Amino acid sequence: MKEIRIGLLGCGTIGAGVVKLLRRNGALLERKLGARLRLVGVAERRSEALRALGLGPELASPNPVALVERGDVDLVVELFGGYEPAGSLILKALQAGKDVVTANKALLAEHGARIFKAAARSGAGIGFEASVGGGIPIIRALRESLAGDRHRSVYGIVNGTCNSILTTMSEQGREFAEALAEAKRIGLAEANPALDIDGHDAAHKLCLLAALAFGVILTPAQVYTEGIGAVTQTDIACARELGYAIKLLAIAKDEDGAIEARVHPTMVPQNHLLASVRGAFNAINVHSEALGSTMYFGLGAGEMPTATAVVADILDLARRRLNACASGSHPLGYPTDLLRKARVKPMGDLVCECYLRFMVDDRPGVLGSIASVLGRHGISIASVIQQGRGKETTVPVIMRTHEAPERNLMRALGAIRRLKMVRTRPVFIRIEDRLQAAVGSGDGSQKS
Ligand code: HSE
Repeated sequence: MKEIRIGLLGCGTIGAGVVKLLRRNGALLERKLGARLRLVGVAERRSEALRALGLGPELASPNPVALVERGDVDLVVELFGGYEPAGSLILKALQAGKDVVTANKALLAEHGARIFKAAARSGAGIGFEASVGGGIPIIRALRESLAGDRHRSVYGIVNGTCNSILTTMSEQGREFAEALAEAKRIGLAEANPALDIDGHDAAHKLCLLAALAFGVILTPAQVYTEGIGAVTQTDIACARELGYAIKLLAIAKDEDGAIEARVHPTMVPQNHLLASVRGAFNAINVHSEALGSTMYFGLGAGEMPTATAVVADILDLARRRLNACASGSHPLGYPTDLLRKARVKPMGDLVCECYLRFMVDDRPGVLGSIASVLGRHGISIASVIQQGRGKETTVPVIMRTHEAPERNLMRALGAIRRLKMVRTRPVFIRIEDRLQAAVGSGDGSQKS
């Protein structure tokens, strides 16, 4: 029986899941492939990780370069994470004509152009289904299943740590710090959670989603990125009162060639499917012209969910190799040399509705002064909530605006901050109300 020989770089949580799945489903995968998938070497510094998986010492390959260069390795699974040595090892494998499977969203978002070009040049394949949404098959859906359509927007809850923290805050009334501590306690948040809670992990994933959806090279530096650290219980409660849930959304839209790319806490209508995504789950909502709206939901992280995506990529590339199909030319769904650099819309040009909260002195004329600054900047108010007097000297004033350019809003907020009766920095959270048009609001009738 033919074999595809696999070299594994990194045997942490996901690597262990891959080893277990290859073993557990060995016979099934063999039947699906008509060939055997054989692990021939594992580069992992912690020898106990191999022992814990029952892998013999003959599989230990302390030198990852040597493992990638081995003549009997057909396919390299890169699960080291980070930029180096992962990037050099992937390039080396691709240049040698070996297929690569990786979950490394940070590397692909930052240096994907080079890596995908190397794959196209050598004809080797690169699979990265595990890099966005863990076990959710969103990469393949965008590249293959939805390839016949033109996509307008992608909205993703793509960071399970943030979604879990926001769920805890919303359902248990806890503040951010407490909810983060809880996420660390249950092993969901990393000891250094900055990459997740500051929104960078979601921005990396958004770069890949935008590439697949719109055929553009988008880099993390082009994505406006704001984390969830400033979300408070007060804002969650006010959002609820206004009919919204607060979610960290990664949003990409193609507005006739100008790409909107942003990650930030967003108010989502409570009756939208995205608002009901709880805990560590991920969901991606794609809005396409002919098809309309589709949702992809599931576990976005974790050992076995992510391992299923890695093993599916292994199987796919193994099939192509065995059938001598070219696999390296369109990993992002377009010939790599036809991908264009994203022309990103400046945030100032963004037009959206907003939630505003001001902590103000409770005295006559305050509301009027704020409204007058907003009016001078062309911002129209949709609704106002002034919460009842308590013992506090300041009270929150909550406003929901109609659509307005973000540039105007920023200028208005700067002027409002300078008013004497406004005691703290105004809070603003963008609202995505048009999502409603995207999901479940139509009658399902056919349009052409
Ligand atoms: N840390 C990520 C999350 C999973 O919390 O969703 C890996 O991308």
